[in-house]
Amino acid sequence: MHTVTCIAPVNIALIKYWGKRNEELILPINDSISMTLNANEMCAKTTISSWETFKANRMWLNGEEVTFEENARLMRCLDGVRRLAVANGALKVPLNWKVHIASRNNFPTAAGLASSAAGYACLVYTLARLYGIPINEELTAVARQGSGSACRSLYGGFVRWHSGVLDDGSDSVAKQVVSPDHWPNMHILILVVNDARKKTPSTKGMQRAVTTSALIQHRAKVVVPRRTEELTEAIQLRDFNSFAEITMKDSNQFHAIALDTYPPCVYMNDVSHSIVNFVHAYNEAVGSLQAAYTFDAGPNACLYVLEENVPQLLAAIQLAFPNDLVPSVEYLRGIQVPNFGS
Ligand code: PMV
Repeated sequence: MHTVTCIAPVNIALIKYWGKRNEELILPINDSISMTLNANEMCAKTTISSWETFKANRMWLNGEEVTFEENARLMRCLDGVRRLAVANGALKVPLNWKVHIASRNNFPTAAGLASSAAGYACLVYTLARLYGIPINEELTAVARQGSGSACRSLYGGFVRWHSGVLDDGSDSVAKQVVSPDHWPNMHILILVVNDARKKTPSTKGMQRAVTTSALIQHRAKVVVPRRTEELTEAIQLRDFNSFAEITMKDSNQFHAIALDTYPPCVYMNDVSHSIVNFVHAYNEAVGSLQAAYTFDAGPNACLYVLEENVPQLLAAIQLAFPNDLVPSVEYLRGIQVPNFGS
């Protein structure tokens, strides 16, 4: 029997991916940029075994068995990695042996905390290790077919997913913008407002947005191309002020598109909005942009902040929010902070 275990971290988008031009191949309508957390923080951990006596491909997610062979996305990942293994001539494990996969997230699944990104990145990376193939752009294209944002979690640091123009999706790949040590004092603070599963899964929300939102094409064609260039430059220059402004504006625009969808997708709640107000008031009080919020398809906030500004921001959060409003501050990049929830 061959067995491999790997972990893959979550990535948090700064320029959001929202909307596909090809549902099956998961080709997006716009580029996106994210930061990958440290590998030991919010992550998925996956163990894959392959043996000639296994009768079927099977998978357990957080201890519960899930359907595998009927799940087109899982099968596309398995077939995609196997195809790359054949092309690489790297056949450590016979391809006709079935696989058993056990995966766990150390954070809430599907609560708008990018669980599918870490999960599919980990699945594809662990399969790649099992069959003996390297991480490269082709592998990101396989991870993309599990869950779009997963392609960005195969690299650390800041990562850009290029939407690509080809119909077969071969140029829709993730590339590293800068490595994690380029901006080591950049931290993320996650305010867990609610860890229930999200109301409208991202696949459904995106489909509905592409077909009903009057604003989404303007975002994809006009706004995002400019923003990705500006954000890339801000990251390269370690310009927190521009970084923060672009990040907050893009989060707001993504949720505006969600609201412009018909019927609307409402991912943020009252506490989320009070966090937005808090961050703007905080930045105004300190006289510069020192914190930036971003929200994925759920109510939880991710705050970007430089390490030297963390203590002051944490103290302000504790003052501004009674314990029952913000249940917990879960993770900080590199440092785990105390849970001050009720
Ligand atoms: O990869 P998916 O299908 O889970 O979609 C992720 C969408 C957002 O998290 C809202 C944005 C992003 O770019 O990660």
